[in-house]
Amino acid sequence: MVALARVSIVLLLLVQAYNCAALRDQQTAWVTKHLHRRKSSEVHTNRVGEKKLLEVETVDDVDEQTVSNGWRASLIRPNHKARIEKLTTFEKIRQDMEMSKKRAMYLFKGSRKTSGESIKKRRLLEDFLSEVEVTPGGYSMEISIGSPPQKFIAVADTGSDLVWLQCAQCNPCFQSNADFNPSLSSTYEPLGCGASCDILEGSLLTCSPSCQYTYGYGDNSTTIGDFSSETVWLTDGAGANVSITNFLFGCGLQNVGTFDDINGLVGLGRGPLSFPSQIAPYLNNNSKFSYCLLQNSDEIDRSPILFGETAVPSSSMNTTRLLPDPGNLTATFYYVSLLDISVGGSRLSIPSTAFQIDLTTGDGGVFFDSGTTYTILESEAYQMVKSAFNDSIEYTSVDLLDFTGFDLCYSVPSFDNLSVPRLTFNFDGADFDLPFDNIVQKVTDDSSNNFICLAFAESPIDSFSVIGNWQQQNFQVLYDLDNASIGWVAADCSRL
Ligand SMILES: *[C@@H]1O[C@H](CO)[C@@H](O)[C@H](O)[C@H]1NC(C)=O
Ligand SMILES: *[C@@H]1O[C@H](CO)[C@@H](O)[C@H](O)[C@H]1NC(C)=O
Ligand SMILES: *[C@@H]1O[C@H](CO)[C@@H](O)[C@H](O)[C@H]1NC(C)=O
Ligand SMILES: *[C@@H]1O[C@H](CO)[C@@H](O)[C@H](O)[C@H]1NC(C)=O
Ligand SMILES: *[C@@H]1O[C@H](CO)[C@@H](O)[C@H](O)[C@H]1NC(C)=O
Ligand SMILES: *[C@@H]1O[C@H](CO)[C@@H](O)[C@H](O)[C@H]1NC(C)=O
Ligand SMILES: *[C@@H]1O[C@H](CO)[C@@H](O)[C@H](O)[C@H]1NC(C)=O
Ligand SMILES: *[C@@H]1O[C@H](CO)[C@@H](O)[C@H](O)[C@H]1NC(C)=O
Repeated sequence: MVALARVSIVLLLLVQAYNCAALRDQQTAWVTKHLHRRKSSEVHTNRVGEKKLLEVETVDDVDEQTVSNGWRASLIRPNHKARIEKLTTFEKIRQDMEMSKKRAMYLFKGSRKTSGESIKKRRLLEDFLSEVEVTPGGYSMEISIGSPPQKFIAVADTGSDLVWLQCAQCNPCFQSNADFNPSLSSTYEPLGCGASCDILEGSLLTCSPSCQYTYGYGDNSTTIGDFSSETVWLTDGAGANVSITNFLFGCGLQNVGTFDDINGLVGLGRGPLSFPSQIAPYLNNNSKFSYCLLQNSDEIDRSPILFGETAVPSSSMNTTRLLPDPGNLTATFYYVSLLDISVGGSRLSIPSTAFQIDLTTGDGGVFFDSGTTYTILESEAYQMVKSAFNDSIEYTSVDLLDFTGFDLCYSVPSFDNLSVPRLTFNFDGADFDLPFDNIVQKVTDDSSNNFICLAFAESPIDSFSVIGNWQQQNFQVLYDLDNASIGWVAADCSRL
């Protein structure tokens, strides 16, 4: 999906010897205290065209009536059906594979600290990054914003925090079927300088006179615009509309990239600006969310995403702790502690260095992600999984690398009653046992020959792995920002 990588030019300007943990806590506390309160008394009317500049600073209480124990939305794949019709099965799979690797590059680049980058790695990044394409294999979400509400489709990105939409006054603009029009909304307010602007940290472009953000995506693609405050609309469990005032988002005025009828992006990361963090004060300070992903194209538009207390599954689940994000300027990413992988019930004893985070450079580690399709495994781990899997399967291996991008595929008589080795992620605290559909990708060629491929890929980056959405399908996956954990339980997503 999105080859989005935050451009580090601006980050470089802000490299300071902050104590990052303290900074993060301070920010989170600030956000909880100030950001989501109802409109304050301090509204400046600097002139930027006709815009009023808002400084959301004075504390006022969250509107009691909007406090809820949960909201729900759907994760969708806007171009999924068109893609299936346009591409052959092989092409679709190969595209998902390429996008998974690009996505891993995006996450990796975003997660690195701004110094200590080796020349070798920099070259690798340049070789890899071509054009930005958004969302094959990833999920999007509908967002209603403004008064009266305007509806958009935005990429749901667990690898970033900022929520932004392309705005109607943009120049240049990416191709889009709808843009947010601030002049049609009575609640739109661009932000002035001060605390609510400073929260952008590394993404702050300038503040003279209005607060402008910048976000970069892998190659030369960027979005620059007004950091603003708006009303966001959500649906609670009973289907009723609720509104959140003073939600902070980016109104994208200069946007370059190929976003393919996507109107923007909803950041679901761990930072204070992310969607779950910003709505938490309206959910009893509960910043949990969970999703349950369907891969079946008939049901693809109904993958639920739940926010608040209702995000917690009713049945007991397995959990693993989230590791602190080692980034100095961001605490965005969902790092997990993967201890080992088991094939056929036996642990492979993958060396612990394979999944370690280098705390000085921010390199390495294992991410949990919604936007990567196939799990990307660090080289050594990948080779061990591949060889153990091949050793304990009964089918004949065939070379479909050029067609699918997978380098371990088998010819099978039919898709019924297949038996493949069990595959388990041994996380710190609990195992994640993968059912058959989460282990392999089924493929049928033009002559109705059936194949299965191990739905994993080798990481394009040393020591870096990403748990992809193929492996998470048919599980309710809980991102618990309060308890710093990730949980999972097998579920029928269409009934959630
Ligand atoms: C990040 O923080 C660590 C300690 O917290 C420090 O040693 C390191 O130099 C910092 N890196 C950058 C790029 O600021
Ligand atoms: C990015 O911009 C530079 C300079 O404008 C250009 O040379 C390069 O080809 C661009 N890269 C991509 C991937 O468009
Ligand atoms: C909720 O708001 C949307 C607009 O975002 C509107 O179309 C819908 O009818 C509303 N639903 C209810 C139950 O009020
Ligand atoms: C949420 O957190 C804020 C700040 O810590 C606190 O003042 C407020 O009472 C909390 N709200 C709820 C519903 O717990
Ligand atoms: C919090 O996370 C830990 C794992 O880090 C888990 O053992 C525990 O059950 C979680 N607590 C809740 C209330 O989810
Ligand atoms: C899988 O194992 C078979 C023998 O059992 C071997 O012929 C084949 O080359 C192996 N395939 C891969 C991709 O390692
Ligand atoms: C499925 O496979 C098992 C053993 O692998 C066999 O006993 C059973 O008869 C098979 N069922 C069908 C419907 O083929
Ligand atoms: C949950 O963890 C336990 C122990 O680690 C394991 O036996 C079980 O298979 C796991 N369940 C799932 C659904 O991953």
